[in-house]
Amino acid sequence: MLFESLKVGPLELPNRALMAPMTRSRAGSGGVPGSQAGLYYAQRAEAGLIVTEGVQPSAIGQGYMDTPGLHTAAQVEGWREVTGAVHAAGGRIFAQLLHTGRVSHPDNNGGLDSLAPSAVPTKEKIYTRTGLADIPVPREMSTKDVEQTVSDFVQAARNAVEAGFDGVELHGANGYLIHQFLAANTNRRNDSYGGSVAGRLRFAVEVAEAVSAAIGAERVGFRMSPENPYNEIEEPDAATVYPALVDALPESLAYVHLIASPDLDLNLELRKRWAGVLVVNATHEQPVHQETIDAWFGRGADALSFGRAWLANPDLLRRLTIGAPLNDPDPATFFGGDHRGYVDYPVLTDSTTAS
Ligand SMILES: Cc1cc2nc3c(=O)[nH]c(=O)nc-3n(C[C@H](O)[C@H](O)[C@H](O)COP(=O)(O)O)c2cc1C
Repeated sequence: MLFESLKVGPLELPNRALMAPMTRSRAGSGGVPGSQAGLYYAQRAEAGLIVTEGVQPSAIGQGYMDTPGLHTAAQVEGWREVTGAVHAAGGRIFAQLLHTGRVSHPDNNGGLDSLAPSAVPTKEKIYTRTGLADIPVPREMSTKDVEQTVSDFVQAARNAVEAGFDGVELHGANGYLIHQFLAANTNRRNDSYGGSVAGRLRFAVEVAEAVSAAIGAERVGFRMSPENPYNEIEEPDAATVYPALVDALPESLAYVHLIASPDLDLNLELRKRWAGVLVVNATHEQPVHQETIDAWFGRGADALSFGRAWLANPDLLRRLTIGAPLNDPDPATFFGGDHRGYVDYPVLTDSTTAS
């Protein structure tokens, strides 16, 4: 299955082993992709589809240090080099649009105060240049802020197309802004963007619809992580929220990217309800086990995404094809730093594969 082609919107993916989005915090000044980003992604061009690191759609959408954006002309120019390098190497690449909402710090985004559905603090901490810092209490978004944020996503998606991306993935997972709207513990609003389940879904659906209207739904993916407690999300009603979300998203989206929930029944229910392409990220063990891959295809996944395995193995597909051992990822070089742990993971050579 992993080595079979798959149609995603207008794209024909040559295989179903996607590269999951991974923040690497190596952008240059002004949120322009770093000088080695093109090489890093092009090295991994054999992935069925590359989803980039989270990219902020606006200055205020930036939470972490040294992450790239898609809201200035210089950033678009920088990304054009990256997409050009990936396409020249025969690959396909979507930009992941990530607005971090309350998970932010003014030291990381040029002094801006963070926005969130509600002014709910988190006890999580965040890295800044001076070390680990408390996360400030965010400001509750007004209706005008919501409208502005939707249009920031739209503009960033248009910029992504202009920069040569094949599409965008909306980050609705892992406790960032869209997820903060979905979860009742971070969305305490009682206007039309909160309260009921339908209210909490509304922001996610509006962003997906508006971005789809701007660049075509077949170029838009949506990532979700039901019941993922990361960034202090609590979702006791996930079994109600996520089926309703999947029903409400535009039907012709390129794909839904599901970070598998610990609740297997919920994953199966989402598979049943979503008629489009379903990408599953479920490889929390390292290295990737063949049984896990087989199990998820057996449960109806159309494609799988791998994060750390692609990070540490530019030639992951080849290694999986021949059953070669995988390089181990080095967490010390995940975020920030130089070429080490970024563009220097070794690939197999003919002499290392000869037996
Ligand atoms: C270094 C690193 C950075 C990550 N950054 C992002 C990100 O920007 N956006 C996102 O949706 N997930 C992010 N993730 C989560 C991965 O996409 C993936 O869901 C997770 O690593 C589990 O998959 P794996 O076991 O195949 O690595 C990140 C993970 C890692 C290891």
